[in-house]
Amino acid sequence: MSSLQFKDKWVLITGASAGLGKELAIQLARDYHANLILIARREGKLSELQSFLISQYDIHVKYLVADLSVQEDLEKVYQFSISNNVYGMILNAGVTYFGEDCQLEFAQAKKIIETNINSVVYLTQKFVQYFETKKQEGALMLVSSMAAMFPAPYQSIYSGTKSFLFSYGHALSHELKNKQFSISIFAPGGMQTEMTEGDSFGGLQKWLMPVNQAAKDALAGFAKRKYTILPGWQNRIGAKFMRLLPLKFLGNQMEKVYKKSLDNSK
Ligand SMILES: NC(=O)c1ccc[n+]([C@@H]2O[C@H](COP(=O)([O-])OP(=O)(O)OC[C@H]3O[C@@H](n4cnc5c(N)ncnc54)[C@H](OP(=O)(O)O)[C@@H]3O)[C@@H](O)[C@H]2O)c1
Repeated sequence: MSSLQFKDKWVLITGASAGLGKELAIQLARDYHANLILIARREGKLSELQSFLISQYDIHVKYLVADLSVQEDLEKVYQFSISNNVYGMILNAGVTYFGEDCQLEFAQAKKIIETNINSVVYLTQKFVQYFETKKQEGALMLVSSMAAMFPAPYQSIYSGTKSFLFSYGHALSHELKNKQFSISIFAPGGMQTEMTEGDSFGGLQKWLMPVNQAAKDALAGFAKRKYTILPGWQNRIGAKFMRLLPLKFLGNQMEKVYKKSLDNSK
């Protein structure tokens, strides 16, 4: 299967107003000269990014304000994307909760599941059906996490959603019949973004990767249609090493590190 050529093609990025999504947008414009469809809830941030990208990189940029936890908005995102002949789709938006699961209200847990899982399943199914029927060239990248591969205590619900995406995306990629369409899974470790700005992540800052480095590796892997993309050699070695260790041992180690960070933030 040939590599993806993003130049002058339309690429959708969900969660483009901040963090990894914003950085992916900047690098797709700067390094690949892609046209962009940006999705998030905060219009001011999307509009500001649109103006910056158009003025700096001479590309086309459109945005749509959408709440991905709301069903009607998902259909709008899909229709907006295909009406612009979308070529690449990066389903990046995600939310977390860092704390004891038993203190999490069910309404908040539901919101996390709706944003991290329901929205991705809805859009993935629609895009896969579209590309399988049209037999057009394109690709989808789901943003999971390294937290999908080991127990992440105090981020239990979040790591569960990311494990879902990791398994779902990989499994689905084997069902594709269109040989010009692929699904990649990006699974970063911790990154410096709005998500990890809070006090509770304070003790974890030294483990976090600069988001521009993570985005660079994500796009290089996506362009090559890699099956699983892990950014940074430390994460790649770490992932191989972790597979050799008992899951319970890994969970115990993670519990100590995360608990310390949580306790220090109180
Ligand atoms: N940061 C990390 O350490 C880390 C590690 C591994 C994986 N990841 C994954 O990487 C992805 C990006 O995370 P990040 O660190 O860049 O997070 P972030 O800085 O918090 O940004 C999250 C983005 O998602 C958007 N978003 C959240 N809820 C939304 C909703 N209901 N509807 C539409 N957009 C929504 C936000 O935009 P609005 O608020 O404007 O809607 C924002 O643009 C996530 O899937 C996350 O799970 C992050």
